[in-house]
Amino acid sequence: MASSLDAILRPRSIAVVGASRQERSIGREILHNLVEYGYSGALYPINPNASSIHSIKSYPSLLAVPDAVDLAVIVVPRAAVAGVVDDAVAKGVRGLVVITAGFKEVGEEGGREERALRDKVRVAGIRMVGPNCMGVVNTDPQIRMNATFAATSPRAGSVGFMSQSGALGEVILARAQEIGLGVAYFVSMGNKADISGNDLIEAWEDDPRVNVILMYLESFGNPARFAAITRRVTRKKPILAVKSGTTAAGARAAFSHTGALAGAEVAVESLFEQCGVLRVGSMSEMFTLATAFAHERLPAGNRVAILTNAGGPAIMATDACVTLGLDVVELPAATQAALRRVLPAEASVRNPVDMIASADASRYAAALGILKSEPQVDGLLVLFVSPIMINAVEVARAIIAAAKEARQPLLTCFMGKEQGQQGIEELRDAGVPVYPFPEEAARALAGLERYRRIRERPEGTLPSFKVERTRAETALRGAAAAGRGDLAPEEVGDLLAAYGLPLAPQRIVGSPQEAVAAAQALGFPVVVKALAATLVHKTERGAVRLDLRTGEEVAEACRAMQQALGATPFRYQVQKMVRGGKETILGVARDPKFGSLLMFGLGGIFVEVLKDVIFRVLPITDVEAREMVRGIRGHALLAGVRGDTPVDEEFLVEALLRLGQLATDFPEIEQIDINPLIVSGRREASFVVDARVRLAPSAAAAAGGARPLGARRAGGAAGPAGL
Ligand code: COA
Repeated sequence: MASSLDAILRPRSIAVVGASRQERSIGREILHNLVEYGYSGALYPINPNASSIHSIKSYPSLLAVPDAVDLAVIVVPRAAVAGVVDDAVAKGVRGLVVITAGFKEVGEEGGREERALRDKVRVAGIRMVGPNCMGVVNTDPQIRMNATFAATSPRAGSVGFMSQSGALGEVILARAQEIGLGVAYFVSMGNKADISGNDLIEAWEDDPRVNVILMYLESFGNPARFAAITRRVTRKKPILAVKSGTTAAGARAAFSHTGALAGAEVAVESLFEQCGVLRVGSMSEMFTLATAFAHERLPAGNRVAILTNAGGPAIMATDACVTLGLDVVELPAATQAALRRVLPAEASVRNPVDMIASADASRYAAALGILKSEPQVDGLLVLFVSPIMINAVEVARAIIAAAKEARQPLLTCFMGKEQGQQGIEELRDAGVPVYPFPEEAARALAGLERYRRIRERPEGTLPSFKVERTRAETALRGAAAAGRGDLAPEEVGDLLAAYGLPLAPQRIVGSPQEAVAAAQALGFPVVVKALAATLVHKTERGAVRLDLRTGEEVAEACRAMQQALGATPFRYQVQKMVRGGKETILGVARDPKFGSLLMFGLGGIFVEVLKDVIFRVLPITDVEAREMVRGIRGHALLAGVRGDTPVDEEFLVEALLRLGQLATDFPEIEQIDINPLIVSGRREASFVVDARVRLAPSAAAAAGGARPLGARRAGGAAGPAGL
C-alpha cells in the first residue's frame, strides 16, 4: 500500500493543471508554493492560454508534456476535471491531487460525478487525494514538496498529519509553525473519494520519518478496516485523533437500556479506545500531546518529579498530574539528601523540588544531574519562570544537556517574558517539548504515559465458544416467522441457553395451579412474574412478586396479579429466586455504521441514574472483555468492598464474550438487554434473571425465514467496500 501512494507522497515530477496566470488564484499559489519550498523534482504548469507561468515553461495540456508526470495537481473548474483526468490516464500519470471543489459535498449530482471520478481512477490504477482538498506536503529534504495553497511554509519534523477539513488544515499548519512542531507529511484528504485516512495510516506505519500520526476526522468510511489497521499500527507508533461531526445519538426506540445509551458518539469513543487510538478533545490538546510525541520516548511508569524555580506553577503542575493519574512521588531519602547538598537551605527537595527564584543554569544543571538518573522517577517536568536576574538561555541549555542524558522523558514549561523566548527556541530546536503552562506539560506527560499503557497491554485473542447454533437459529426464526420483532420469553431462554448464558431455572405456565406445581418442582423460594406483551413497568403494575416460600404464597401472588391486571391476558413466569450477588447489565445494540456494540455495567440504579456503563464495538478480545468489567466506575463494588466477596470475574468476562459471539453470529439481532445478570462469587450461583431480545425490523419482516439467518463466521465482518 505504501508504494501505491509514492506517486502522491514522493513524486519525481509534478504537473499543476490549472496553474493560473492570475496572481493570488489557487492554481498559481500552489505552483508558487512548490517553487518556493524548493521541490526537488520537475515542475510542469499546465494552462491552455499561456506559454509560461511563474517564469516556468508551461504546456497546454498534460498530453503535451514531453516527459513522464508522476503527480498531477488538478486546480481547474469542476466542469473541466473529468477531461483532465482522461488526459492524466492517457499520459500515464500515477497520482492525482484534486483541489477542485463542488463534488459530493454539494449534493447528489456532485456525488455522482465524484463516484464517476473515483471509478475512472481506480480502473486506471491511479491513486487520488480529494477532491475538494487543500493539497499535500512532504518535508523530506529529498522531496521538499509543498503542493498546497496554504500561506504557511511547513517546518520539517516527525508528525504525519491528515485532515478531513481543508480550512482546518491551513490552521493546523500555521499553528504547528507557531509552536515549532514540525511535520513529516501533511495531507488534506478532502472528500476521501479514493485515498482515505486508513490508506495514509498504512503508508506511514513503517515510515521512519513519522513518529506520531495525527488525524482530524469528520466521518468514518470503513470502521472495520480502521479498527484492523489501527490495532496494529498503534503498537508501533501513537495515533492521536480529533473526531468532530458528532451526530445526535439517533432516535432509537427505548426498548432497552443498551439501545438508549448507545449512540454514534459512543461507538466512535469505544472504537478508539479498543484500537489504542488516543482521542483528544480539542485541537489544542492535540498539539499539546503531539509536541511530546514528536520527540519524547515513553515513560516507564507514572511517577513524576517536578523541578521548579517558583511555587505556584509547581502546585498547578502537581494538581494537574494527580488529576491525570500521574503520581508525584516523594523522592527517596538519599535523593533528597543529594539535592540538599547542591541546593540552598530555603529550597524544598521532597517533590516538587522548588529551587526558589534565585536558581540559575548551574543550579538547574546540578538538580537535574541528580534527577535524570533517579530510578524512582519515570518522567520529569521542569518548570522555569523567567526572573529578571537569571539568564534564561543558559537555563534552557542546562535543561537541553540534561534532557539528552536523562533516563526519563523530560518536558518543560517556560514561562515569562521576551528574554525567555530565545530559550524556548533553543529548547524546540533541540527537540525538548516546551509549553507555556504547567498543566499543558502535565497533560502531555500523561498522554505519553497513557500511550505506554496502550502499547504494553496484551493483544488478547478472539475466543470462539462451542455453542448450539441451530437451537439459537430456531428461536430467532420462530420469532421472525411470526413477524414478531421481540422474542417471546421461551425464545429468549432458548437463545441464551444455546450460547451458554445461564438463565435462572424457570417455567412459563398458564394458570395459578400450574404456577404452584412449577414452584414446587423448581424448589422454593421463587419469583412469579406476569408475562404479557403489553406489560412494561411490571413492578409498578403489581406483576412481579419476589421471595415466595410456599405453594400458598404462590397461589396468593397469582390471585393478586389477576386482580391487578384485570382483563389483560397473561401467563405466569415462575423463576427460582436468585439470592445474593451483584446485579449487572449486559447488552447489545446495533449501530448502522459500526455494527454491534456490546455494553456492560452495574444494574439497577447504577444504570438508571449513574449510567455507569462501558461499550465496545464487536468483535472483542478476551483482554477487552476484561477491560470492560474493570473499566466501569463502580468496579470496586464487583471486586468486593468492605469485606464483600468479590464476584466471579472470569464468569463475567466469559459471559460478555459469549454474548458478543451471539451478536456477531446473528447480525439480525438489533438489541439485547440482559438485565439483570446476577453475579456472585461462584459461576454456579450466577444467573440471568431477565432478558429481552429484539430483531431488526427487516429480519422480523422477512417472515418464514426467506432470508438465511446468521452471519457466516468465517467470512468475517466485511465493511463497505472501498474507503
Ligand atoms: N486544463 C488546464 N488548465 C485549465 C483548464 C484545463 N482543462 N481549464 C481551465 N484551465 C485554467 C484556466 O485557464 C485558468 O488559468 P488562467 O487564469 O491563466 O486563465 C486556471 O485553469 C483556473 O481556471 P479558472 O476558471 O480561473 O478557475 P478558478 O481559479 O476560478 O477556480 C478552482 C478553479 C479549482 C480553484 C475552483 O473551481 C474551485 O474548486 N475552488 C474551490 C477550491 C477549494 O476550496 N478546494 C477545497 C479546499 S479545502
